[in-house]
Amino acid sequence: MAKTPKIIPIETVMTDGPQHVAIIMDGNGRWAQARGRPRLFGHHAGAKRVREVVEACPDLGVKYLTIFAFSTENWKRTQTEVAGLMSLFRLYIAKETRALAKHGTRVRFIGDRMRLDRKLIDLMDNLEKETAKNDRVHLTIALNYGGRDEVARATRRLAQDVADGKLQPDNVDEETLPRYLDTHVLPDPDLVIRTSGEARISGFLLWQSAYSEYEFIDTLWPDFTAEELGELVVNFRTRDRRFGAVAE
Ligand code: FPP
Repeated sequence: MAKTPKIIPIETVMTDGPQHVAIIMDGNGRWAQARGRPRLFGHHAGAKRVREVVEACPDLGVKYLTIFAFSTENWKRTQTEVAGLMSLFRLYIAKETRALAKHGTRVRFIGDRMRLDRKLIDLMDNLEKETAKNDRVHLTIALNYGGRDEVARATRRLAQDVADGKLQPDNVDEETLPRYLDTHVLPDPDLVIRTSGEARISGFLLWQSAYSEYEFIDTLWPDFTAEELGELVVNFRTRDRRFGAVAE
């Protein structure tokens, strides 16, 4: 008997990718409050979701995953919450290093490390070193990251190179500037997801997401699953990305 060919909906084959997914993990506080628990309980639940999402990436064809863990504005939260988050990051890195390394994940951090404590910086350095040879998934964790702050720091370095005669002002263009950004080794995100129903980008990857597709979804981050990521990836493939050009 002839085999019935598998019918693939036309929309799902329109584009490949996304190669790079970036996520604003929002809603931990509300998730905890809905359960009558302190906000940090929500952050711990949120941290637990990261592994499943990272591990789902290879099957979805997602090579780069960038997650927003702490913004330069998050220091304005209460001292208890900030200290709790810093302690969670230390705990997470210490606990997850082996699993991430074993899974073939390469981890990088972006953001300004200057304001972070020594112990956390050492753990971050160690995780980057331990996973430096991996290439299965490239996980980038934005920690003390702000898009404006990143552009300001990049501009400072660029200006220094001009002052040192290493770079001519006439040669500063769209190719040159991103080489000074924290993300200089990464491709731009194809898809940016924000959980928890808020439709704003909060300074996440400002330069890099100029042509990204966005998904603002209602799910609170601690409820986000690999399955939902899969649905968003399939949805992405139906989109007609023109980068300012006209469809052929
Ligand atoms: C936003 O939720 C979330 C954060 C500010 C922290 C994100 C951190 C994690 C998901 C956990 C740790 C991550 C890693 C990589 C270990 P919110 O507190 O703003 O929630 P709300 O809007 O409901 O108050």
